[in-house]
Amino acid sequence: MKKQYSYIRTGILGLLLSSQALQAQNKVTLRADAPTQTINKNIYGHFAEHLGNCIYGGFYVGDSSAIPNVKGVRKDIISALRTLKVPNLRWPGGCFADTYHWKDGIGPKDKRPTIVNTWWGGVTENNSFGTHDFLDMCEELGAEPYLAGNVGSGTPQELADWVQYVNFPGKSPMSDLRQQNGRQQPWKVHFWGVGNEAWGCGGNMRPEYYADIYRKYSTFMSGNLFKIASGANSSDYNWTEVLMKNIPLHMLDGLALHHYSVVDWNKKGDAVDFTEEQYFQTMRSACFMDTLVRKHSAIMDKYDPKKKVALVVDEWGGWYNVEAGTNPGFLYQQNTMRDAMIAGVTLNIFNNHSDRVRMANLAQTVNVLQAVILTKGEKLILTPTYHVMEMYNVHQDATLIPVSIQSNNYTYKNEQLPAVTASASKDKAGVTHISLVNIDASKPQEITVETGASYKSVNGRILTSSKLQDCNTFNQPDKIKPVAFKGATIKNNQLTVKLPPFSVVVLELK
Ligand code: AHR
Repeated sequence: MKKQYSYIRTGILGLLLSSQALQAQNKVTLRADAPTQTINKNIYGHFAEHLGNCIYGGFYVGDSSAIPNVKGVRKDIISALRTLKVPNLRWPGGCFADTYHWKDGIGPKDKRPTIVNTWWGGVTENNSFGTHDFLDMCEELGAEPYLAGNVGSGTPQELADWVQYVNFPGKSPMSDLRQQNGRQQPWKVHFWGVGNEAWGCGGNMRPEYYADIYRKYSTFMSGNLFKIASGANSSDYNWTEVLMKNIPLHMLDGLALHHYSVVDWNKKGDAVDFTEEQYFQTMRSACFMDTLVRKHSAIMDKYDPKKKVALVVDEWGGWYNVEAGTNPGFLYQQNTMRDAMIAGVTLNIFNNHSDRVRMANLAQTVNVLQAVILTKGEKLILTPTYHVMEMYNVHQDATLIPVSIQSNNYTYKNEQLPAVTASASKDKAGVTHISLVNIDASKPQEITVETGASYKSVNGRILTSSKLQDCNTFNQPDKIKPVAFKGATIKNNQLTVKLPPFSVVVLELK
């Protein structure tokens, strides 16, 4: 009997084991009748830190720049991110957040103090991009802001003041200050991080200590806020256990998780010039997100069976060596078809676990790590990752259709990963979308999709290229972009899809 994996029942470990017994037949079954939930659009969130050229020289060029801008923010970036339908944007860090004192970034720009960005390149930060700049930019983007508060080097009073400054509609010391600085109405910021990576750059705390810190700081953050605790580093399940045990449910809305797809932290390898071995190991790390989500969720289920607390994967993506000749502290890397594969696989995992994963943030939006946009002077390119995020945005706030998947193996030497991953949803207009990924570096995959309902037409787009190492460059910005997909046919309730090697396809069924 052929073995199957189902996103309802089996983990990636089970999936790896069972996939060894598979024969040459991929099958995806849509379980349209199974009870399910909305895929929270916030799964498609992004992250912008004061790091390298993400803010300065990326988003923000200043209002005197010759590059067209709105209040100093590049118009071409605003337009590209609107097309992406960015639902939320996390700022100002990352590690930077626990060194950031928000009052440094308000008021007349020429009076703002400078600080040293100790985590990222040791450069001088002039604070010209601050709270107003970020929150106004989010309004331009149509994205909800997600502010990461400083609990590492800041005080509870400072964080409480920030909440009051941006959210309080009545008269108060902080809302008066906001109005003096030109903003009458509050921005109503809902999403708040209470520190970042408290186990590391956020203060090197033990989970027991951080649980108390979280309780203390969050107590003084008033209003109807969605408060997110600094979560585990990848497979540190004890962190999740201790936080869930020690923070009362009524004080907690989200618990973070950070996981980067890395070959080896000591040998991350080049972003473009990589081997199949490195590609395979990156895919292994990306697929491991499924195990992480299942195991952290299982711990959360013990303390929170009704799933009140969201798992917020507020940093994910590929991480390689910085591009040769760039500042090692700026984390600038190119973006290839390998990154498109990370994005496709990861977003399928998030969709399929959207009962618990209700927010996530790709690291980072512009010029840093797995960026969706790279800039050089006035030029801008959209990366393969951008295109995957854009193709997948049909799943935002759609109803998940659970899938069972039987996949061939992608075999490298004597290691295996499932070649095919998928997720599906039905949008508010009743249109079904399926996203399919084949990570195999050389073999195409033919997939039979049992749709469970009758459809008359199938249309779709594909993202692929001739080489895994291909990327968009400033000389060839559109080398990789989605094109119409001709490899799907539908007959009765059965869809047949032919996926080329390392490709991402999103289909629309009507
Ligand atoms: O995204 C880069 C860094 O990675 C963030 O600042 C930190 O939170 C993480 O370690």
